[in-house]
Amino acid sequence: MAAPLLLTNIGQLLTLRSTTFKATGPLRGPELNDVGLVEEAAVLCLDGKIAAAGKQRDVLRAAKGKKPVELDCAGKVVLPGFVDSHTHPIFTAPRLADFEQRIAGASYEEIAAAGGGIRSSVAGVRKASVKELAEKALAAFEEMSRQGTTTVEAKSGYGLTTEAELKSLEAIRAAAAEWPGTVVPTLLGAHVVPKEFEGKPEKYVKEVCDKMIPQAAQRKLAAFVDIFIERGAFTLADAERVFEAAAKHGLGVRAHVCQLSGQEVWPLLRFHPASLDHLDWAADEDLPQLARRDTVATLLPGANFFLGLDRYPPARRLIEAGVPVALATDYNPGSSPTTSMPFVLTLACTQMRMTPAEAIAAATLNGAHALRLADRKGSLEPGKDADLALFDLDDYRELPYWVAARRCAATILKGRLLA
Ligand code: NIG
Ligand code: FE
Repeated sequence: MAAPLLLTNIGQLLTLRSTTFKATGPLRGPELNDVGLVEEAAVLCLDGKIAAAGKQRDVLRAAKGKKPVELDCAGKVVLPGFVDSHTHPIFTAPRLADFEQRIAGASYEEIAAAGGGIRSSVAGVRKASVKELAEKALAAFEEMSRQGTTTVEAKSGYGLTTEAELKSLEAIRAAAAEWPGTVVPTLLGAHVVPKEFEGKPEKYVKEVCDKMIPQAAQRKLAAFVDIFIERGAFTLADAERVFEAAAKHGLGVRAHVCQLSGQEVWPLLRFHPASLDHLDWAADEDLPQLARRDTVATLLPGANFFLGLDRYPPARRLIEAGVPVALATDYNPGSSPTTSMPFVLTLACTQMRMTPAEAIAAATLNGAHALRLADRKGSLEPGKDADLALFDLDDYRELPYWVAARRCAATILKGRLLA
């Protein structure tokens, strides 16, 4: 059990707990601007949970007799740890050939069609041991927590055989056991059709549905099943089959949609996806349906940035339509090799015109909703996990403002201090 911990002298505490509205689901529209700011604040953590968070004088009263270790926050900013709800950490090497080809002018899809892209990460993963893959994933999780991330969703997706996908999930489990944060594993067997199944995508989808999903579920290696719906990857009809199999085996679902081209998403909504991710080309006709549901639109501007795209996810259009949005890194070797949530917030503000408050809400509480973990994560309220990040900043709006700076001074993961 984590020892009692008391954070004092917080200049700005963002609780993500509103005083003006009572949201039960993910935050939408104007709710995203209410980050529950408390000045001259403190937080008490007991047994890895938040015991009290708010005005310092009230929290000190609650801390009486608990003999906590004190962390003096020196007037700086404290917020809930980031929930990075979309990452691909199971790979062995950076994709430098893709990188140089893109610099020379080739597009992501051209590189993939010529044998680069996702398929070029597969050989390394198939050869690697669980231990090697776990070490790489753990290094990424550690880099994330040094930047304020306390919960990470982690996908398989570069194995593309039942054996290599399950091995990837085992590596996620092994890395999670070594990291003090929280990891949510996702099976992304349907990332692309592997070479051996070229021209026979339905056969590969059958492998995903009949082998990967049942085995991952039976061994409790995954909480969610994901699929990449795109030209050159999988169709909406493939996704319906994969989601049916996931539902049959008790796993949640999420999908990569509308990243490079437009596609209607409403047929997926009957499966209650926890999130639909990317949505750069989201259709206007889908927005009213999304606005009525708790499926979170997870926006991944790191990919747009790294691929050098002019177009970014349409955050304003989604927020104004009432669609709940989250932000995540999409950490992966092809399109978004960054572990930095603060950098993603900068992109959200400068390229997508989200306010600093909206971006922080999207990266914390709405990220928790995107993983169906909002009962434990994403805001600072009594009973939730003590996951917090301290930033060496005077004003929370500086978090997206200082571009690519590392201002995270301490991270607290389930009540344990990582200084
Ligand atoms: O989210 N779009 C599919 N998956 C990743 C890219 C994976 C890769 O290129 O290795 C994404 O951008
Ligand atoms: Fe992705």
